Amino acid sequence: MGNRVPMIAGNWKMFKTCPEALETARTLVSLTAGVSDVEIMIAPPFTALSGVSEITGPTGIQLGAQNLHWEKEGAYTGEVSGAMIYSAGCRYVLIGHSERRQFFGETDETVNRKIFAALDAGLKPVICVGEDESERDAEKTFSVLDKQMEKGLKGVLPDQMGSAVIAYEPVWAIGTGKTATPEQAQEVHEYLRKILAARFDDNVAAKTRILYGGSVKPDNISLLMALPDIDGALVGGASLDPETFFKIISHKT
Ligand code: 13P
Repeated sequence: MGNRVPMIAGNWKMFKTCPEALETARTLVSLTAGVSDVEIMIAPPFTALSGVSEITGPTGIQLGAQNLHWEKEGAYTGEVSGAMIYSAGCRYVLIGHSERRQFFGETDETVNRKIFAALDAGLKPVICVGEDESERDAEKTFSVLDKQMEKGLKGVLPDQMGSAVIAYEPVWAIGTGKTATPEQAQEVHEYLRKILAARFDDNVAAKTRILYGGSVKPDNISLLMALPDIDGALVGGASLDPETFFKIISHKT
């Protein structure tokens, strides 16, 4: 269905100095030399992007940034634009990660502006959505996702979705060791695909990759990847060690 190429992405968050990042990237490049059936993406911190890009550039490993600002340039001290990260070698950018929503005031409106900024800069947005624990307990998971998808994707056209990836990251599963059960994850991914079909069309729904994120490890990846609507993973903690990340990349379903 949709011929979706699986994607395993590593979000390094605020970890690794430049030398540490370069060493991790070098090890990952040599470990993954024979991998061809999965798209690999890593999102190091901004400071390491350009250095890592020199290592990953000649390989199939894609580079992503963890955030961008929605303006093209200007007096926005501390911010980084789409063109800047593109010029550092990125082709992907994470948008609306729950840690950005939780700690840095990102909203569905800023997510929306950032999606357009990414598309303008030639970057593929990895749009993160997900409910927190209290929302799941209150059985609001689907309504939270409805709102995040509706407001986040406002004004986005079907062909612009061609480059976008959705990442479902239940906040209660991030860094907690609690993974959504395969049933919980599949249920939500199927729901997100229905939202894509209703909001865009069946073609977009069939083609858009939906990644799962939240305590993905070598020992749970196979079960997750066996599910029909899970097209890959956005991995945090377990992507920091290249050997562990490689085990996730080379899982067998
Ligand atoms: P963990 O894999 O550490 O739970 O983090 C998931 C995540 O937030 C990836 O973006």
